[in-house]
Amino acid sequence: MYYPTINPTVAVAAVALLSALPTAQAGLYPKSSPVLQVDAKSYDRLIAKSNHTSVVEFYAPWCGHCKNLKPAYEKAAKNLEGLAKVAAVNCDEEENKPLCGMMGVQGFPTLKIIRPGKKKGSKPVVEDYQGERSAKAIVNAVVDKITNHVKRVADKDIETFLSTNNETAKAILFTEKGTTSALLRSLAIDFLDVISFAQVRDKEANTAKLFNIESYPTFVLLPGGDKDGLVYQGEMKKPDMLKFLSQAGEPNPDPAPLKSKGDKKTDKKSEKRSKKDKKDKKDKASKASSESTSTTTTESSEATEVPPNTETKPKVVEASPPIPAITSSQALINECLHPKAHICVLSFVPTARGETAEKLLTILSDIAFKHAKAARHLFPFLEVHTDNENIAPVFKGLELSGEIELVAVNAKRGWWRHYEGDFSPASVESWVDAIRMNEGPKNKLPEAIIGEVALETETATEEPIETIEVNLGEDVTVEVNAESESTSWQGAEPTPEATDAPPKHEEL
Ligand SMILES: *[C@@H]1O[C@H](CO)[C@@H](O)[C@H](O)[C@H]1NC(C)=O
Ligand SMILES: *[C@@H]1O[C@H](CO)[C@@H](O)[C@H](O)[C@H]1NC(C)=O
Repeated sequence: MYYPTINPTVAVAAVALLSALPTAQAGLYPKSSPVLQVDAKSYDRLIAKSNHTSVVEFYAPWCGHCKNLKPAYEKAAKNLEGLAKVAAVNCDEEENKPLCGMMGVQGFPTLKIIRPGKKKGSKPVVEDYQGERSAKAIVNAVVDKITNHVKRVADKDIETFLSTNNETAKAILFTEKGTTSALLRSLAIDFLDVISFAQVRDKEANTAKLFNIESYPTFVLLPGGDKDGLVYQGEMKKPDMLKFLSQAGEPNPDPAPLKSKGDKKTDKKSEKRSKKDKKDKKDKASKASSESTSTTTTESSEATEVPPNTETKPKVVEASPPIPAITSSQALINECLHPKAHICVLSFVPTARGETAEKLLTILSDIAFKHAKAARHLFPFLEVHTDNENIAPVFKGLELSGEIELVAVNAKRGWWRHYEGDFSPASVESWVDAIRMNEGPKNKLPEAIIGEVALETETATEEPIETIEVNLGEDVTVEVNAESESTSWQGAEPTPEATDAPPKHEEL
């Protein structure tokens, strides 16, 4: 984030004027909105530590493009209900500013897709969403990133699947489809380490015979041990399936939000538990709000738990959120490698990361977090993947060859620096401090790696040169319901304001 230098008197006057406006504080999304409101305090718990995939919009209530996005974003939230989290952070709120800064938000709205890291306990993976601002495109991109814990089991594997952890409950979907639906993937996440999920295709005749399967789809629950299997009789809809599966064990404490009426009575256990959690936290504000809405589900009480601007600020996230990852060369140009870009610190790591990479990323996010907490301006730290073809020219252009490399670039001033120490917190931090103080050796930045911005950003002075096309993959299919033909967004008209206009950013 780059703060323009403002005459302090003018700034004070502007702040006074802003706070006099009644709408200055209000967020874009009311409590009744399907969009989950997240702040600096709840971000870690609701998004960073979640087993589910989330899309988070960083916005400001006064921003026109954010208002234009709202109908499409709310529609995406409805369509992704129970499958993934659709959340928004109001970056205009004082207490959220450090979070927005650390996430590298430089314009509004900024959309990021956040999903759990591969290994347990590793940092979540954060990617910018730069696709079309329509409900359909957002839903597609998010569905594509929902982690798949469902095993595809063939006749030859069924014995192994059934005998592995034979005391653990198992759920098997017998289906005619080859792909794993978002619904089944989301259920597998809700019951991660509680129920093992599998999908068996109709062509696996022996397994079908073993379970007496006569029609497709058929969903079977094996509660574990020598208890009898149960066959699901309801529709392939999440609330009923969740209730069915709960016979074998409780879902994890952090399900993907489900707000539909049909769900109200289905989830008593986790409702009770979520109330207990809250009591434990002694959060009076949220306790009061959950008591006044005693029939709400875990998920909707989670939404009411976000305190509506109470006296208890300032709030700070406890663990350092991960630094953003850049996955396209255009995004890298937009952020760091256009002729007017300021300092960026790029950590080149393999997509699979590994121990050293995780260590470096943690060091960097800790440094960024320290500065953010102190409200000190710091250049963005970004994760870029060495093995990403799009990034390779930059990597080669800087004549880098290591598996993990740390560099700082300043495209505007035409220099770059290479970190050569070991990846220890003290050593990396002193290198970062040297850059802040403008000390230490610089190399000339090869001109070949500088590009043109393709999005209108705060640093762009001209009209956007072109709109970016983001290829979400040809084979992306969205199946909102496990087996039914209808997907709720199909046939719905994309909102014109979200599709006609090229993606634009508003200035901070
Ligand atoms: C589960 O496996 C254990 C050993 O791996 C075996 O002793 C036990 O009988 C099995 N239980 C069932 C219900 O098959
Ligand atoms: C995430 O999944 C693990 C099991 O792998 C579970 O223990 C944990 O409670 C889940 N986390 C949340 C926030 O639901």
